[in-house]
Amino acid sequence: MAFKHKHLLEIRSLTPSEINTILSTAESFLEISTREIKKVPTLRGKTIINLFFEPSTRTRGSFELAAKRLSADIVNFNQTASSLAKGESLKDTVLNLEAMKPDALVIRHYCAGAPYFISTFCQSHVINAGDGYHEHPTQALLDALTLKQEKKKIEDLKIVIVGDILHSRVARSNIFLLQKLGARIILVGPPAFLPTEFKNFGVEIDYSLDRAVEGADAIMMLRIQRERQKSNSFPSIREYRNLYSLTKNRYKKAKKNSIIMHPGPINRGVELSTDLADSAKSVILKQVENGIAVRMAVLYLLLGGKERETAD
Ligand code: CP
Repeated sequence: MAFKHKHLLEIRSLTPSEINTILSTAESFLEISTREIKKVPTLRGKTIINLFFEPSTRTRGSFELAAKRLSADIVNFNQTASSLAKGESLKDTVLNLEAMKPDALVIRHYCAGAPYFISTFCQSHVINAGDGYHEHPTQALLDALTLKQEKKKIEDLKIVIVGDILHSRVARSNIFLLQKLGARIILVGPPAFLPTEFKNFGVEIDYSLDRAVEGADAIMMLRIQRERQKSNSFPSIREYRNLYSLTKNRYKKAKKNSIIMHPGPINRGVELSTDLADSAKSVILKQVENGIAVRMAVLYLLLGGKERETAD
């Protein structure tokens, strides 16, 4: 098996070959979700715990469905209904859950580095489902799978990532992944959300969406991450919308067959107009669909499932 990592904590430390292994494994899993009986026995007997310390619709739901489609058992941990509410520490919580002998922990946490911290003392495989503003590796992988489906290859694509780059773990994981696969990346946003230090990642930055969108193959819109902003550094939603919302007029400057992406949740009418969000150019729900196959691939590669049984 070409995937040697015990955990999936970030994209930054993966090689292009490892990324391609995850993507090709995900491609082979896509078909399972189209079957009438959407289940294979690949991870039968394995136990996975979803540990989410922040709200989630797409990531938590698709990890749960991915596990179930591979016949693994999965338990959802609810922070507010747990003993964390009684003062138990994160480490004690994880150690107690580990005593129940899971095989993998899927962690979303508001602190950057929390999944890495957990991986230093636990036996299970740890999968980062988004940590603070650090990384969201499975989101970048499902974005890459969608780009490959729509554009056939990622190399040499012009991909514009727009919005609150500073606070976005999705932007960071995508910067690392798409660069490793040869894309040209332009980051766009107001200066308060796009420090010039981002150039150190080897990407271009532009403060004009009107200019950056010209000739783009894909435009990835991001939400303003109010929950991660430490100061009220942005003047008004109206100003933001005027300069950085993707509207039909702005979209016309992109390549004719360019696609619109968004990790969700969308703030309709803020970063993206409703007519574009619901248009044929939007692949937003395709991204969500691909999230299941990508998470099946990650669980399969880390947990070392039996040989694929494709004919069941
Ligand atoms: N894209 C994403 O992480 O969405 P959720 O917060 O709903 O999981």
